[in-house]
Amino acid sequence: MDLSKRIDRAMMNAITRAQGNGEGAPGRLAAALNYAVTPGGARIRPTICLSVALACGDDRPALSDRAATALELIHCASLVHDDLPAFDNADFRRGKPTVHLAFSEPLAVLTGDSLIIAAFDVLADVADDDALRALKLTRLLARHTGMPHGICAGQGWESESKVDLGAYHRSKTAALFVAATQMGAVAAGHEPEAWAELGARIGEAFQVADDLRDALYDETALGKPAGQDAIHQRPSAVEEYGVQGAIRHLQDILSGAISSIPSCPGEAGLAQLVRLYAERMTPVAPVRV
Ligand code: IPE
Ligand code: IPE
Ligand code: MG
Ligand code: MG
Repeated sequence: MDLSKRIDRAMMNAITRAQGNGEGAPGRLAAALNYAVTPGGARIRPTICLSVALACGDDRPALSDRAATALELIHCASLVHDDLPAFDNADFRRGKPTVHLAFSEPLAVLTGDSLIIAAFDVLADVADDDALRALKLTRLLARHTGMPHGICAGQGWESESKVDLGAYHRSKTAALFVAATQMGAVAAGHEPEAWAELGARIGEAFQVADDLRDALYDETALGKPAGQDAIHQRPSAVEEYGVQGAIRHLQDILSGAISSIPSCPGEAGLAQLVRLYAERMTPVAPVRV
């Protein structure tokens, strides 16, 4: 089965479970959960997670499916919360109205909360297959989601008067990419440490590319509001290095990513995947300047 089908099927199982299989749960919140995860975006984190698991032998596909799903649920939750008026006050996400506009602010808060809890439930539920790996996956996900160095920390940096751009990006964005590579390895029975660098480098490149797209593209091309970093006076790679400098920085990071792939049976295939993402991430002709 191709990776996107595997991810979609596992995501739908998780959402159906969180919705209570249609019985006795509040209907609008149940609908909002589905709205927040479908149609998906690029699903880059679960794709990286499954690709690493496959490169490491993927001996327990049920575990790697759950790891990939948990990551994407956390990511979708972070976007729902990030779009709220208390954060970026965004109207569009993935080409449609954000959850708080389509449903309401209380339901958007609860949607994010429910997706975060569903992510941990998805991992706990697979403990019967391999309790030790499920526990390791849970701890990795917690570490890269909360404080002091996960997504919560990343969002927290936006409330500080002095921001360390590196720490901000490492927590806000790269943390979930480190989780993706490490959880893919752990799901397949490998130790996570050697996989941190690859995740960190892909995550750093991804954030630089996101900053470039935010500065260069328009809302139609992005499917979400453009120019947000400047509007919210957020630290960004474009602000720090300029457009050309940020593109050079992106290319340097990606070549480092390829050389950081740990040796494993599927090393060559993984290098190919990173090259593919490198091409996709590098901005082409700007739509808006
Ligand atoms: C956007 O992430 C938010 C950041 C962390 C910069 P993605 O670009 O992966 O969003 P989707 O899932 O494809 O919509
Ligand atoms: C959102 O970051 C990603 C999170 C980790 C919550 P941004 O605010 O920079 O990303 P977009 O532009 O809304 O996708
Ligand atoms: Mg934000
Ligand atoms: Mg935002």
